[in-house]
Amino acid sequence: MKEIYLAGGCFWGAEHYFRNIEGVVDTEVGFANGDTPAPTYDQVYTDTTGYAETVRVIYNPDGLPLDELLRAFFCAIDPLSLNKQGEDEGTRYRTGIYYTDSADLPIAKKVFEEIQAEYSSPLAVELLPLKNFFVAEGRHQDYLVKNPDGYCHLPIKIFRYPRLVSDLRHLLGDEPDLVARLSNAAALIKEKMGFFWAGFYLVGPSDNGKELILGPFQGSVACMRIGYGRGVCGTAWKEARTVVVPDVEEFPGHIACSSLSRSEIVVPIERGGEVTGVLDIDSAELSTFDHIDAFWLERLVRIL
Ligand code: SME
Repeated sequence: MKEIYLAGGCFWGAEHYFRNIEGVVDTEVGFANGDTPAPTYDQVYTDTTGYAETVRVIYNPDGLPLDELLRAFFCAIDPLSLNKQGEDEGTRYRTGIYYTDSADLPIAKKVFEEIQAEYSSPLAVELLPLKNFFVAEGRHQDYLVKNPDGYCHLPIKIFRYPRLVSDLRHLLGDEPDLVARLSNAAALIKEKMGFFWAGFYLVGPSDNGKELILGPFQGSVACMRIGYGRGVCGTAWKEARTVVVPDVEEFPGHIACSSLSRSEIVVPIERGGEVTGVLDIDSAELSTFDHIDAFWLERLVRIL
């Protein structure tokens, strides 16, 4: 087992997120890298102690390598925001990665560089050795388990996705049949996340080459074939990247299978460096999908 200390804003929500990730063995909330001895929550809350609300994450590196855990961490923070996550402001809500094993530094640096490349301004996330850590009072441990309606700066879906991915892995087991796997994947996504339409299109033969052909899905009837580069699905195939569409009416060439669909996300499924299909999810509401859905659905398609 290994440990890493992650400051991701209010530790109530951050802990609840990490504890759901497969490969995380234990979590504990506390205060890291501050100046005074043995601080209480109330002292840290004054924002004068130098401490950051931090989660000690114990994980199994065999199932969950550090770089993957850190990418999941970045998914749950605004990495450009200094001393502010959600509505919570103050140095205690700064973001940081604090390591106790110097062998973790190059791994963390690499993920930092990867994330930094996505932005034009510098990341506000600290990357430092752990200086000190004091466990917070018992009432703050597993806070959102004890208080399911308690305050949280993170959206509810971020807690559902890690469970969805691990439930799917267990559900599929070593079943080799692709139709069986995709059918249950579509059913689980629809059931657990409540989307309007969830399903797959698979690259298959057509009269003039290849196109996306409707595969297992849950939801209303859908168009059966989509050309390369056509619609949202064909674009995700052609560009081999996840496409998030906040408003389908604003997406040129969007293929409207149902007039109820307002926003959409399409994630390519790749095998051997080639796109072999896509996962398509539609929502009946605008702006349903963002980087959180993209991150976790990209993890999900890897186990298909
Ligand atoms: N809207 C998709 C077509 C598939 S349906 O959403 C199920 C697209 O533009 O590719």
